[in-house]
Amino acid sequence: GAPVEADIAGMAVGEIRTVEWRGNPVWILRRSPEQIESLKATESEVADPKSLRSPGEITPEYASNQWRSRKPEYLVAVGICPHLGCSPTARMAPGAQTGLPADWHGGFLCPCHGSTFDVAGRVYKNKPAPDNLTIPPHQYLSETKILVG
Ligand code: FES
Repeated sequence: GAPVEADIAGMAVGEIRTVEWRGNPVWILRRSPEQIESLKATESEVADPKSLRSPGEITPEYASNQWRSRKPEYLVAVGICPHLGCSPTARMAPGAQTGLPADWHGGFLCPCHGSTFDVAGRVYKNKPAPDNLTIPPHQYLSETKILVG
């Protein structure tokens, strides 16, 4: 499929925008400083914290870092669960929520079988999803435009 442009102008902190690429949703999340900080707390709770599995396939080389992104502020991720392909939902409020641990730091919950992902799309341990959410190839065309694909 052709690359698609995502307009991130004027995104609020914590906002998520979705573009469609190759028939799949791609999320762009503008992370708050607290969300970026929460990645330290989830580091030991996720299955593949450094995204070392399948190098270059799930996570492009330029996103193989603690944020899984080119810029810490923006997560760009394919919104499809690597278990059986459902679309997880954003559950950004930290703390106890239905179906989530009491010390939830914010992230995504897959409604199908309960896989959870942090705000870098890293899958938590002991969940059915085998891998982190895919980071699609992407580049910044400007401060306000991302080319996905
Ligand atoms: Fe997401 Fe099974 S499809 S947990």
